[in-house]
Amino acid sequence: MGCGGTVVLVLSIWGLFLISLSSASRLGASRQKLELNKHLNRFNKPPVKTIQSPDGDIIDCVHISKQPAFDHPFLKDHKIQMRPNFHPEGLFDENKLSEKPKEGSNAPNTITQLWHANGKKCPKDTIPIRRTKEEDVLRASSVKRYGRKKHRSIPKPRSADPDIINQSGHQHAIAYVEGDKYYGAKATINVWEPKIQQPNEFSLSQLWVLGGSFGQDLNSIEAGWQVSPDLYGDNNTRLFTYWTSDAYQATGCYNLLCSGFIQVNDNIAMGASISPISEYSNSQYDISITIWKDPKEGHWWMQFGNDLVLGYWPSFLFSYLADSASMIEWGGEVVNSEPNGQHTSTQMGSGQFPEQGFGKASYFKNIQVVDSSNILKTPKGLGTYTEQSNCYDVQTGSNDNWGHYFYYGGPGKNPNCP
Ligand SMILES: *[C@@H]1O[C@H](CO)[C@@H](O)[C@H](O)[C@H]1NC(C)=O
Ligand SMILES: *[C@@H]1O[C@H](CO)[C@@H](O)[C@H](O)[C@H]1NC(C)=O
Repeated sequence: MGCGGTVVLVLSIWGLFLISLSSASRLGASRQKLELNKHLNRFNKPPVKTIQSPDGDIIDCVHISKQPAFDHPFLKDHKIQMRPNFHPEGLFDENKLSEKPKEGSNAPNTITQLWHANGKKCPKDTIPIRRTKEEDVLRASSVKRYGRKKHRSIPKPRSADPDIINQSGHQHAIAYVEGDKYYGAKATINVWEPKIQQPNEFSLSQLWVLGGSFGQDLNSIEAGWQVSPDLYGDNNTRLFTYWTSDAYQATGCYNLLCSGFIQVNDNIAMGASISPISEYSNSQYDISITIWKDPKEGHWWMQFGNDLVLGYWPSFLFSYLADSASMIEWGGEVVNSEPNGQHTSTQMGSGQFPEQGFGKASYFKNIQVVDSSNILKTPKGLGTYTEQSNCYDVQTGSNDNWGHYFYYGGPGKNPNCP
């Protein structure tokens, strides 16, 4: 194009720009809206029934064959497995054990999800899915990152590069085992509602089933409870899962926010609020989570409580975990965004240090791993790890009633953690 052409072009673009200054932004906005709707349609499948939860959530009962997992090209012809071929051996013995009165409380406490209020249920052959609202997506840094963890949020004990741990701003207090092949893990996790100082921070308590070294191809399956204002728009404690097969880069997501996990349970919604919550020096509530690899099909199954099989992550999603896990971690994680250049006061667990003990500090109890014979075992050579024990700490122990356990957590910012 010659010089004159360029001038005309520039002039006409400039003219267009002037004429449509306001309509351009409107055009941009409507394009954004289209984009947003496209993503919302990807998350939200047409419901058979819709349930309004008291916390403001909408729970969609979606036909089991219409769930997000089946958007995955590899799952087009997948036949849903409604139950695992095998449970880990010892699971039910131990459940009987935990039916016994707990230390410091008189009866097993039952936990449910808020949306069950007034006996609400999803119909047969459907699964409950927390609806993603427009405002949920708008809170994310980008539509594409919605439902995903930022990189480098994995606690890496004895890291060769401590700077990387600190740079990410994520802080942990965990117990872990490594050095063997693991085929699953279990824990009973005390449930709290930690205070979050800033909406861009979160606090969670979970177990990690990890495969591979800590490189770009790290595989991870995670489940537990979390408070995450950014992800959910409130400070409620919610049940969550996560998976990735490339260290949080391109694959994986929270809950059912991408295709991968296949849910079979009609009673528990991922990402929905848990109720009730433990109170300081008062009633304590906990949830049990078991994740194990079915020795027959190789899928990774998840069970909530004593009998609620939630569903499975198909083996093909993973590289290392297609074989076995190389490390298991249990514990808490918070984001420290260092508001005002000081340590965050976002709490981990109950916000109390482990020394406080039962009824005050948060705990994981009956922590176990699944061995190559699909048997639940107490973990051997349990290690602990925390970046700054003055901010959040962890203390392990074992006894007949609780098996291997630990107390963990802390207040974050305090005179010893400025
Ligand atoms: C992280 O940073 C804090 C504060 O600067 C420091 O005390 C701590 O030792 C660091 N942790 C690691 C693992 O380097
Ligand atoms: C969440 O808690 C923080 C303080 O801990 C508060 O400032 C904020 O308003 C709460 N958010 C909601 C949605 O309740």
